[in-house]
Amino acid sequence: MKYFLDSAKIDEIREAYETFGIDGVTTNPNHIMNSGKPFFTVLEELTAFVKEKGIEGYEKFPISVEINPHLDDADEIVKMGSEIAKLCSNFVIKIPCTEAGIAAAKRLEKKGVRTNLTLVFSPSQALIAAKNGSLFVSPFIGWKEASGEDCKQYIDDIVTIYKNYGFYGKTQIICAAARTGKQIVDCAVSGADILTAGLQVFKDSFYHPFTDYGLKKFQNAWDKTVTE
Ligand code: E4P
Repeated sequence: MKYFLDSAKIDEIREAYETFGIDGVTTNPNHIMNSGKPFFTVLEELTAFVKEKGIEGYEKFPISVEINPHLDDADEIVKMGSEIAKLCSNFVIKIPCTEAGIAAAKRLEKKGVRTNLTLVFSPSQALIAAKNGSLFVSPFIGWKEASGEDCKQYIDDIVTIYKNYGFYGKTQIICAAARTGKQIVDCAVSGADILTAGLQVFKDSFYHPFTDYGLKKFQNAWDKTVTE
């Protein structure tokens, strides 16, 4: 399963790339706001980053950039999505899973602009995203689990549906808004293509107290052994 970093902060993206070997980035208007920088400044930083690392092109390192979420007309979404996509070959256009969004995503994909259908909360929404040819679909898991739903079955169902109809791997499933290592493992067991989360979620999922315990134990043993 690939890891994407859910952030618009370039220092976090750099750290996640160098430490965890992330395979891509997802942003949203909230992350851009939290970066404290103007929208187009963030896009310039992302463009410079992929150039610096030699990972240009969405096939190598996709970066999802969300359109203005106020847009509710397919023509306007296509226009803004096309303009953003021209700025960097890594940009994948993130579009809310609404009727206008689905229509716009279909048109953008036909023009060769890759899309990520976001704010997906049901397998039936995920099925429509795949039928319309989006590169990515982003079912949110953290938000659903925060409201009391178990998401293991939710992701299992999307994977099963995609396998049943030949969409698996074509429209790649990005499990989004993950909050815990357990959710990461559940998504990997289900066969999700990608998981996106904030840097701290990856750090927490990587940490295990027994690693520290074992390290201390072996350090003590080393210190009591003649090693020179
Ligand atoms: C997914 O692509 C979204 O950017 C993201 O996961 C939104 O959720 P969060 O910011 O609450 O984690």
